[in-house]
Amino acid sequence: MTEAIMLVGGQGTRLRPLTTHTPKPMLPVAGVPFIAHQLARAAAAGVTRVVLATSYLAEVFEEHFADGSPYGIELVYLTEVEPLGTGGAIRNAAAGLTCGPDEPVLIFNGDILSGLDIAGLRDGHVAAGADVTLHLTRVEDPRAFGLVPTDEDGRVLEFLEKPETPEQIVTDQINAGCYVFTRSVIDRIPAGRPVSVERETFPELLQTGALVRGVVDTSYWLDLGTPAAFVRGSADLVLGKVDSPAVPGPTGDALLLDGATVDRGAVLSCGTVVAAGAVVRAGAIVEGSVVLPGATIGADAFVKDSIVGAYATIGARTSLDGAVIGDGATVEADNELPNGIRIACGVLLPVGAVRTTAGPGGCPAGQSTAAAVHGSVLQQ
Ligand code: GTP
Repeated sequence: MTEAIMLVGGQGTRLRPLTTHTPKPMLPVAGVPFIAHQLARAAAAGVTRVVLATSYLAEVFEEHFADGSPYGIELVYLTEVEPLGTGGAIRNAAAGLTCGPDEPVLIFNGDILSGLDIAGLRDGHVAAGADVTLHLTRVEDPRAFGLVPTDEDGRVLEFLEKPETPEQIVTDQINAGCYVFTRSVIDRIPAGRPVSVERETFPELLQTGALVRGVVDTSYWLDLGTPAAFVRGSADLVLGKVDSPAVPGPTGDALLLDGATVDRGAVLSCGTVVAAGAVVRAGAIVEGSVVLPGATIGADAFVKDSIVGAYATIGARTSLDGAVIGDGATVEADNELPNGIRIACGVLLPVGAVRTTAGPGGCPAGQSTAAAVHGSVLQQ
């Protein structure tokens, strides 16, 4: 039996307004709440029990996942009244663990999509007799990340803050947000106050001579914390660039969930997802985007790399690129929104209110397909 803790209590500020009503780990990615992918991958690696460390909008998780039995995994919920940060949340969640002090406990950040060999990380931790083992990944541009250099045996040397000069870039290895802790190490994190695992727990462990290992695994890795990464992660799951047992239905150029209504004259591509109750009208082109439940994409609209919130409406001939449209917002016909715009929940943008020079882009050749796929309800 292996137990895990999943950190899902953050506010997800970088994804606002999508996280106004839904916590980031519950936002639909490739058709299901994001952590359904993580839970499925954890279960496949032999995890049998997961403690969800909740805080922001805590009730949403249990309403959806209940005791976990439909997902083949036992779920326990421990909620922080005041958010305790990553380390404090791990300490608080330890109350839900049943394992002994020498057992390994997997810890997942609730916003990382990866192809990590989870069982391998746990087994290597046990074999090495480590206190903590971190999954590390390599990035091309490490300037935006804290760095984690290791020696030739994989022992972590330091936890460095984001580099500010080229000389400070001593490695391209970064913390990938998945760890194995020996249970007794969790029990030593101070209780009842905010603690950052990155800034406090890990550096203290190094100071006391603990064995902290870093394992570089360069398979698929993406932090879904920003809108651009969020749509990419969803599309990559649909396109099969990363595997998840939780993707509902066959993958291909687009994923239409049961109850989606897409006109035969619409074109969906580049890993677009259309959720239940959403409608895409004739002539619309939707590329690499996430259309959430009950949303409507009007005739001849162009939607690229965007997230259209639940029950939002995009009018005819309107175009979006890299946009985030909040739940229930309406962008009426003939708007051309600038790249990267965010529209708050419930806002109304009248006909032709915004015009820019941005025009339709295009996805790589061969990824366009007519919408008539996967047996969803199609309008004639
Ligand atoms: P941003 O506000 O956009 O930075 O997102 P975030 O709130 O999710 O923060 P961040 O991406 O740094 O968090 C990493 C992971 O830790 C996410 O899965 C969060 O849900 C989780 N997390 C962050 N802070 C807390 C906390 O205080 N309590 C709990 N339980 N989880 C947390």
